[in-house]
Amino acid sequence: MPQADLAGRHVLVSAGGTREPLDPVRYLGNRSSGKQGYALARTAAARGARVTLVAANAALPDPAGVDVVPVGTAVQLREAMLRAAPQADAVVMAAAVADFRPSVYLAGKIKKQDGQEPQPITLVRNPDILAELSTGRAKGGQVVVGFAAETDDVLANGRAKLARKGCDLLVVNEVGERKTFGSEENEALVLGADGSETPVPYGPKEALADTVWDLVQQRFRQLPHS
Ligand code: C5P
Repeated sequence: MPQADLAGRHVLVSAGGTREPLDPVRYLGNRSSGKQGYALARTAAARGARVTLVAANAALPDPAGVDVVPVGTAVQLREAMLRAAPQADAVVMAAAVADFRPSVYLAGKIKKQDGQEPQPITLVRNPDILAELSTGRAKGGQVVVGFAAETDDVLANGRAKLARKGCDLLVVNEVGERKTFGSEENEALVLGADGSETPVPYGPKEALADTVWDLVQQRFRQLPHS
């Protein structure tokens, strides 16, 4: 990896997992630790990039030299990403975004009622931030990267998702027992919209992050810089 090969570039990374509140004390969440997104932010900063990290509920220390924007919900994460995207040469959506949120937020804590069945929770769709960032590129020559966790048919599902979202690269994780969630290690297949396939063997999340930046860097060289 060349030193400071991302100098002069501004990268925007999302990390962690969104939480969708039901009432003041409860939320719908997911198991994302934020470690992969933080590894992406750290490695980009180490390679000389200016880094904005939009962090959703990650209990991790702020990486040195990185501009961290804390958010809670998918709607807040979208707002923070759309605000920062026009300045970014690359956008990496490593956050686990809740696909749905409760349709109503109750300002008072939901209580058990004696002798009554609980009320069902109804959900509404959250915006697909990656698809929005990909289709409405905020800056010419911008490279957009998504993540996908798949349990089966990794290649076919990954290819379909890459096309659906419209991003340049999709990092596909096979979700398993020791991999991905909360772990220090990861294993992935990085799919390119140009048909490329880059397998990344089981190893530290930093190594996967460096491979992602290598592939982003290749695309910077192919795209006009604005
Ligand atoms: O569709 P799926 O959730 O599998 O896609 C995962 C990718 O899409 C991740 O990069 C995630 O950050 C992004 N995503 C998003 N907005 C959503 C759901 C997922 O940006 N509502």
